Amino acid sequence: MRVHIGSDHAGFALKERMRAHLVSTGHDVTDVGADSEASVDYPVFAKAVAVAVSRGEADAGVLVCGTGIGMAIAANKVSGVRAVQASDPEFARLARRHNDANVVTLAGRFIDAEAAAAIVDAFLGESFEGGRHAGRVEQISALERP
Ligand code: RB5
Repeated sequence: MRVHIGSDHAGFALKERMRAHLVSTGHDVTDVGADSEASVDYPVFAKAVAVAVSRGEADAGVLVCGTGIGMAIAANKVSGVRAVQASDPEFARLARRHNDANVVTLAGRFIDAEAAAAIVDAFLGESFEGGRHAGRVEQISALERP
């Protein structure tokens, strides 16, 4: 899959690990930064990944900050993006199956690389179920229209 990945300073170390993991598992990865642990503002990187997903330039996004929360809030402001903070693989799977989530956000200060890899693999490996969930996701999309 084409995966865009980004982080702020608090998510930098885990983002680096996740980029390597994604490359090693065969994904086409674009890293939008950050490039170090120097303090930066997470909405900048959330926007870069979310816009790529919204435009169809990426199949999915992975964002890492301290909690994953700020990244999710920011990414969800971009039309067409359904970002979910996941700290458990089952939540990541359900976010794909029921909510057609297209961005997963991770808590760099709270989970280790092994747990994060399991979450990312669960997220990217699952598909949207459609069916009764399709109309609900369409109602979410309708909220974006004036
Ligand atoms: C940075 O200190 C921290 O606020 C950020 O990484 C993130 O956790 C925000 O939601």
